[in-house]
Amino acid sequence: MAAEREHWGSNLGFILAAAGSAVGLGNIWKFPYITGENGGGAFVLVYLLCIAVIGVPVMICEIALGRHTQRNPVGAFKQLNPVSCTMAHFIGLCFMLSGLFLFCFSQWGWGATALVIGALIFRYRWILVGAMGVLAGFVILSFYSVVAGWTLGYVLQAVGGQLTFANVAEAQEHFGVFIRDVRWAIGCHFAFIVICVLIVYHGIKSGIERWSKVLMPVLFLLLLALIIRGITLPGAMAGVRFYLSPDFSRIDAQSILVALGHAFFSLSLGMGAIITYGSYLRRDQNIFTSTLSIAALDTLVALMAGLAMFPAVFARGFAPDTGPGLVFQVLPAVFHQIPLGALWAFLFFLLLLVAAVTSGISLLEVVTAYFVDERRWPRRRAVVVFGAVIFLLGSLCAVSVADWSRIEPLHRFLVAAFGTTEASFFDVMDHMASNWMLPLGGLFISLFVGWVWGTRHAVDEIRHGSHNFADVHLMSLLAGLRDDPSHNSPAHVITLASLWGIFIRFISPVAVLIAFLNTIGWLDF
Ligand code: PFF
Repeated sequence: MAAEREHWGSNLGFILAAAGSAVGLGNIWKFPYITGENGGGAFVLVYLLCIAVIGVPVMICEIALGRHTQRNPVGAFKQLNPVSCTMAHFIGLCFMLSGLFLFCFSQWGWGATALVIGALIFRYRWILVGAMGVLAGFVILSFYSVVAGWTLGYVLQAVGGQLTFANVAEAQEHFGVFIRDVRWAIGCHFAFIVICVLIVYHGIKSGIERWSKVLMPVLFLLLLALIIRGITLPGAMAGVRFYLSPDFSRIDAQSILVALGHAFFSLSLGMGAIITYGSYLRRDQNIFTSTLSIAALDTLVALMAGLAMFPAVFARGFAPDTGPGLVFQVLPAVFHQIPLGALWAFLFFLLLLVAAVTSGISLLEVVTAYFVDERRWPRRRAVVVFGAVIFLLGSLCAVSVADWSRIEPLHRFLVAAFGTTEASFFDVMDHMASNWMLPLGGLFISLFVGWVWGTRHAVDEIRHGSHNFADVHLMSLLAGLRDDPSHNSPAHVITLASLWGIFIRFISPVAVLIAFLNTIGWLDF
């Protein structure tokens, strides 16, 4: 007889763990620079809209799927997989036709991949969405932990007083040497994986929940300290203006798609992390208000992260390098010019590390939950074995950034199959996850909940745990429970009744599909 499934000890524990998954390198490293590049405050507004209109409805779906089935992503889809499904067959056919189309253009690697996926869809239908989620757990963690390893390395170097740079050029050179030093890169990546393994090893309540309850408040305190330090420097307000003053002329279709893609990555949607965390939720816990809290925390941290950086960058007269180099190549030089610079650099990289740990454990938990639920492995064995597998995969990423020629056969294979030339294995993994797996995952999850499982079943699940009047009222409003005798919804409620259903059935899939086709270059704006 299977052991009873572990559950979160409290609703707060779940919210902090899920917010921990959401708050990560994406918030602190990526959000500020894409905001700077895409029109500051105007982009923030677009991003908030994407979170509210697409992110929150899809997150509600994922939590409902997880809690209803009490399973990992594969198990969740297996439990609800219909015996025959026209939509799945149609999607399978689309993949097969795309495969043939790609063959016509001699894209052998992509063509074969599309054909195989098409055939698998015919065989397994929606279970594949869950399987892609588990696979994404491997893929994302393998490159995510390399960047997390760099932050760990910088924490150590800050302690050792090695982050002292007179200017950005010196900081850039140091970073270049640092990531090419395979001993540092692999050593720190290894240490990061060990931290994640140790936490996930102890399970949901005494591992993930316990540590999220410690690390998330630490993260907030670190951010607050850095913001106060930044905005009290003379000249800091120019940075706040750069970051937040809205420039609507920079908003175009492309920046909207950037906002949408980032909303997905940032909320950890589309790959089953939230399904998995939702599966440890009890039925008396409130899905709707939890989702709002998680999305609010995630967005708040993203906004705060920019305030922790740009004011200091401007105050010290640095150019706001509007690109990914900001964190590792500009900030260390900025901190060095602030009194007690080593301390601030240490606190900043510690902040990044904490954010990366709470996300890393959610990625490892997806993989672990699959092997525990579906393959009946003991948790501890699953965590250690797949921690090791991810370490090896991540080492390839780290080495490929340092020097491709060290793993030449892999390089040659990727070039032959997919035509990737310059991109490192690290970039390939990042590209595969962010541009393919997460958008497709998000698309299929909303299609599944909206059209296959059905919004009505989903709402039945969501309503459990909504104790107070406002929630029940809102949920019946969202669900359109017209024919439920226990809900006498007034007319205006009925008018707005199918709001959430409309988002999930139409708006999210269409928006995500457009964003996806744009990223893969099949639809140009
Ligand atoms: N949300 C994380 C971030 O913003 O860095 C990244 C992430 C974590 C994506 C976990 C997906 C996931 F399952």
